[in-house]
Amino acid sequence: MDTAHRSFPILVALFVLLFGVTSSQPYEEFLQCLEFHDSNITSIVYTRANSSFSSLLESSIRNPRFDTSATPKPLLIFTPRQISHIQSAIRCSRAHRIQIRVRSGGHDYEGLSYSTISPSLTFLVLDLRNLRAIQVDVPSKTAWAQAGATLGELYYAIAAESRTLAFPAGMWPTVGLGGHISGGGYGSLLRKHGIAADNVVDAQVVDVEGRILDRASMGEDLFWILDRASMGEDMFWAIRGGGGNTFGIVIAWKIKLVPVPASVTACTVTRTLEQNATEIVHRWQYVVDKLSNDVFFMVVLNRVVNPIQANATTIQASFNSLYLGSIEGLILMMEAKFPDLGLRRENCVEMSWAKSILYFAGFPLNSPLESLLDRTISATGSAKFKGKSDYVKEPIPISGFEGIWEKLKEVGVQTGGLILASYGGKMSEIPESSIPFPHRAGNIYQVEEVAFWVEDGVEAADGYLNWLRGLYEYMTPYVSKNPREAYANYRDLDIGRNGGGGEGDYRRARSWGSSYYKNNFDRLVRVKTAVDPANFFRNEQSIPPLSSWR
Ligand code: FDA
Repeated sequence: MDTAHRSFPILVALFVLLFGVTSSQPYEEFLQCLEFHDSNITSIVYTRANSSFSSLLESSIRNPRFDTSATPKPLLIFTPRQISHIQSAIRCSRAHRIQIRVRSGGHDYEGLSYSTISPSLTFLVLDLRNLRAIQVDVPSKTAWAQAGATLGELYYAIAAESRTLAFPAGMWPTVGLGGHISGGGYGSLLRKHGIAADNVVDAQVVDVEGRILDRASMGEDLFWILDRASMGEDMFWAIRGGGGNTFGIVIAWKIKLVPVPASVTACTVTRTLEQNATEIVHRWQYVVDKLSNDVFFMVVLNRVVNPIQANATTIQASFNSLYLGSIEGLILMMEAKFPDLGLRRENCVEMSWAKSILYFAGFPLNSPLESLLDRTISATGSAKFKGKSDYVKEPIPISGFEGIWEKLKEVGVQTGGLILASYGGKMSEIPESSIPFPHRAGNIYQVEEVAFWVEDGVEAADGYLNWLRGLYEYMTPYVSKNPREAYANYRDLDIGRNGGGGEGDYRRARSWGSSYYKNNFDRLVRVKTAVDPANFFRNEQSIPPLSSWR
């Protein structure tokens, strides 16, 4: 045995010893610090030694890609029950140099609310699951909702008060309000009312100094908080779409509720290549952004088992639409504007808007509204996934779609696909600088390219990731350019990132930052520089302060 091999176990032992010492010290001192601030706090701290640690961590991991033994884990999970717990966590984390990853619903596409790409990073997860109170005020058509609530809980709370009020946010019930609104948040009402972040009128945030901030700091005593300061309009602008874990920890959003009819229409039409899917999707692009604002379309393109030919597959386009009106009204409109789709009465069902969320999430039609409250449902089961996003401003030609079909044929049935979401309407009326989310006029639709796989292991994952990157590359000529725009809530570390511990660099961040925020990126950097100059709140894709410019 040569010297290098002989010394290896000694080095490992030394490393383990050193690593053990450096990681246990901040942890114990951190706990002492918490206890100093609040003697009852230890009941909401879960260390790795706690028998509930793993189940608590996994319960909000919404992408099984980041639920492996190799995924970096937090030092501890902290589940605050009151705002003072968050204030203590911030103060003690700063003092002991432990990074905070805040988690609301856990749907981050790259797992950044509970993990990191940096195996040596010492971090804790601040999980807001216990902060999910919702107060709906029908007369003022507003609600206060805490960040740990899910979209399903919010929609249920609104529906319990009124069948004709709604909130224009996402379409999957377990998505958390904290991350969702911090990154934008679109759903079936975006063409009528814009996105979730467009409809926020106030917020409560704990900043890096542990202060509780709101927009105006006036009047209303909310959720028992008396001692508040104003965050100012710049910070209020930034938190509405400028990305989570960046400017502070959002505790609650005050949102504007929007009117919907007591009954809306939800429809699904599927067409395969043999049923002219290519021509219909192609035609869809010419009408979809110009339809009445009352109509929203989502089209899912993927490879399926051929329904009319045994042992064969085909490409399917599934057209899902929501209409703020009756079935008859929608059919009349489609016959006039988009007859190619061949929409028929039997493709559609009338229901309340809240129930339409369950419809689009794939629940059976007779599911009770209480299904919205189920925080355990999973969108992908055990399948891991990765998503990427694009914006389409000119219709893709037929030949372009034919190339997409070839790409989809490279992967198995329903393991890869594209989801197209119609824009136009209200989205075109809101100026790009109104909030950080900039994807407004000129977009016909948004695209999500996605891959799913159940196989374990790096090799399988690499195969699907490479396929997805190939599809994204293929899409280049057909999508937005300079910058190639992307949706911040479909986080994609392929388009660029900060250092592993979230250390930011303005120039480096500009590449991915302008994709997510276009010309709003510089203003976000200015706000970050003003409110968190030492970059305490950070992750691999958070806005860096200007002081980190090199
Ligand atoms: P999570 O808790 O993982 O947080 C995401 C990011 O925000 C992290 O960086 C986190 O640290 C930060 N953060 C969380 N809470 C915070 C707080 N209180 N204060 C400050 N920062 C905070 N999007 C969409 O627009 N429409 C849709 O219909 C859907 N549907 C959908 C379905 C499924 C199955 C998934 C996995 C994702 C979506 N999304 C979506 C994307 C979703 O909007 C996006 O992942 C959100 O960031 C998720 O917010 P969560 O709170 O659930 O995630």
